[in-house]
This record gives sequence, structure tokens and C-alpha cells, in this order.
Amino acid sequence: MSGKLTWIDEELENLHKTGFYNNIRILSSPQGAWLIVDGKKVLNFCSNNYLGLANHPKLIKAATEAMQKYGVGPGAVRTIAGTMDLHLELEKRMAAFKRVEAAITFQSGFSANGATIPALVGKEDVVFSDELNHASIIDGCRLSGARIVRYDHCSPESLEAVIHKQAGNYRRALIITDGVFSMDGDYAPLDKLVEVAEAHEIMTMVDDAHGEGVLGEGGRGIVDHFHLHGRVDIEIGTFSKAFGVMGGVVAGNATIIEWLRQRGRPFLFSSAVTVPDTAACIAAVDLLEESTELVDLLWSNADYFKKEMQATGFDTGLSMTPITPVMLGEVSLAREFSSKLYDEGVFAMALGFPTVPRGKARIRVMISAAHTQDDLDKSLEAFRKVGRELGVIG
Ligand SMILES: Cc1ncc(COP(=O)(O)O)c(C=O)c1O
Repeated sequence: MSGKLTWIDEELENLHKTGFYNNIRILSSPQGAWLIVDGKKVLNFCSNNYLGLANHPKLIKAATEAMQKYGVGPGAVRTIAGTMDLHLELEKRMAAFKRVEAAITFQSGFSANGATIPALVGKEDVVFSDELNHASIIDGCRLSGARIVRYDHCSPESLEAVIHKQAGNYRRALIITDGVFSMDGDYAPLDKLVEVAEAHEIMTMVDDAHGEGVLGEGGRGIVDHFHLHGRVDIEIGTFSKAFGVMGGVVAGNATIIEWLRQRGRPFLFSSAVTVPDTAACIAAVDLLEESTELVDLLWSNADYFKKEMQATGFDTGLSMTPITPVMLGEVSLAREFSSKLYDEGVFAMALGFPTVPRGKARIRVMISAAHTQDDLDKSLEAFRKVGRELGVIG
């Protein structure tokens, strides 16, 4: 290989040596409660398929029928080739579902953040950002050129203090927080953060990637959970988690949505999501609007699993949602735990530094409405067995 690329080999080698190399498991089945992983049938606690929609017959049917009418791809960027009525329908449906003025879709949640933040703030501005915000928020902030001022995780007091410190030092400001934090499963005190924002007349944005389909009435998200409609300017969402598909959405104030159609760079310079994705997303909204059954099931599964784990002596950390961390401490222990669970037929990921702070390694258990009672009991049995073997519980 040419000498100019040897640095990559060295870096990859380093990742292997330090244990940070990503070994990606190969799936040969749809996403669901059970998976075929590297040829082995295992119970799945790794995906964000909260409602089991990734392989839902109604979504598959909608995607198939839409392809028969519209084909597969959107052809080009929407501002150039024209927008399919299907994309507009999804946007209308999402605005109604989220009980806000308007919505615009993007290729992913990641690109929704990359579109929105630089469209709202620039070099003369400041972003007040929760210290544990998602990577796509951080990248969107960097792309904007705005000064990034972090406040302590989920702390309205810290937010107030950093705003005071920056007073008179910026043109515009934007407060950004994740809704649900995916490593701990806790969620932002959005009502308190909005009070601070309103007192200082600062724009507000929440990334509800893990709250949509989970929090609020029938999964309408964190803004609905706190009854803050009209008081949060922007909600970022993704269709890749509870909705079971792919794509991003920005919902909220109609003027901002209009601005994003003019100035959101991934909207202007990247094509829309595909036809089957869009149709499947609409079918997911149909299901969520028809009934709260799946969201209710998700929560009853999560409550059951968490209660049983806690009663057994496991520490489930800060979890307030179906994301259930099982706190283990050292990364070596978390990895060994995950590997032994896999031998028992349970696929659950170990997370360590730098994804989570040093000494706070854990297994992250993602509960889904797709899990049956039997699935949950099997996994609890595996956790107890491995927990005793490794001395985590008595
Ligand atoms: C908080 C948050 N925002 C955005 C994203 C990105 O979503 P997508 O998979 O649609 O790009 C994720 C996914 O991990 C997320 O957790």
C-alpha cells in the first residue's frame, strides 16, 4: 500500500490494541425480538425498534404499494426535481401527530440536526448545549460556527448560570437538549429548561429521537409529555427508531420550517428519503394514531423488566424510559457479561469509555413492544445466571 495511507493502518492497529475497534455483528434476519446474529438465533436487546415496527406487515404493505405507484427513488433534490406528494403527506401527518404547526423531513435524524442548527445560528451566536447531547447535535453546532457553551446534564440551574455568564455577548442564542438520553435512559426536565429559555427569550430545540413513539400520549414525544406545544420552537425526530424505518423530521414553528425549506442544506443539496421509506413512515403514523396499544405494551414490558432486575439486585442507573442500563463499572466486566449473555442466547451490548464515562461501563438493554413475556423471562433468567457467575449479584 502507498506510504501516504500507512497512518490509517497504524490507527486501525491502535484501535484493535486498545479495544476500541468496532466489530460489527452480521444479521441475517429482520429486526425483531429475535435475530439471527452471526448464524445464531438470539434474543435481541440491542436495537431501537421500540414498537416492533421495523418488520411490521402494515409497513411492508404500504412500502410495496407505494413502490408500485411511485417507483423507488425521488430522482433528485426536492427543490430541483419537484417534491413527491408522498413526502408532503408525511410532513402533514407528522405535524398533526406531533400537534405542532408544521414539519419537514430529512434523510436521517443526523442530517436533520445538521440542517437545523446552522440554519438558526452562526458565528455571532451561541448554543447552550447539554453536556451529554448526541454526536449529531455536536456536529451540527460545530458546523454552524456558533460558540458552544455546555451546561451540566439536565440542570436548569446550570443553564441559567451559563446564560448569565454570556449575557450581552451574542447576537442570537439557541438552547439544545436531547429529549431522552440514550446511554442512561433519563430525560430532560424540558418544562424547567423552557422556563429558563422564555425568561431570556432564547430559541429552544429538543432532539426527541428516543422520545418519539415512547413518551407522551400515544408516543407523541417529550413535548407532548410535558404539554409544551407551541413553547418549544423545534423538535428533531427520527424515523429510524420507534417508527422502525429511516429518515429524519423537524417539527414545530411554521416560520422555522419554512426557513429550513429555504436554508436547510441537506434539504437543498441531498435527495429526499426513498419512496418505500416514506410510505412506511406514513403507515407507522397510521398505527400510532389508531391505538396506543404498542406504546402501552412497550412501557409495561419496560416496567416489568426493570422491576425484576432491581428486585434481583441489579443497578439500572438513571433509567426513566425503556432504555435500561445495567450498571457494571469496569468495561472488562461489561464485555465479559455481554459475551456470556450471548452464549446464553441474549444479545445485549456492553458500553464503555468513551461512549460513557470511565468506571460507568454497562450493558444497555433496549426493551421493545415486540418482546413477549416469555422473551423477558428468558432474558431475566440469563441475566441472573451470568450476574451470579460474575459476582455482580449474590
Ligand atoms: C439523539 C439522537 N439524535 C439523532 C440520531 C440520529 O438518528 P438517525 O439514525 O435517524 O440518523 C440519534 C441516533 O442514534 C440519536 O440518538
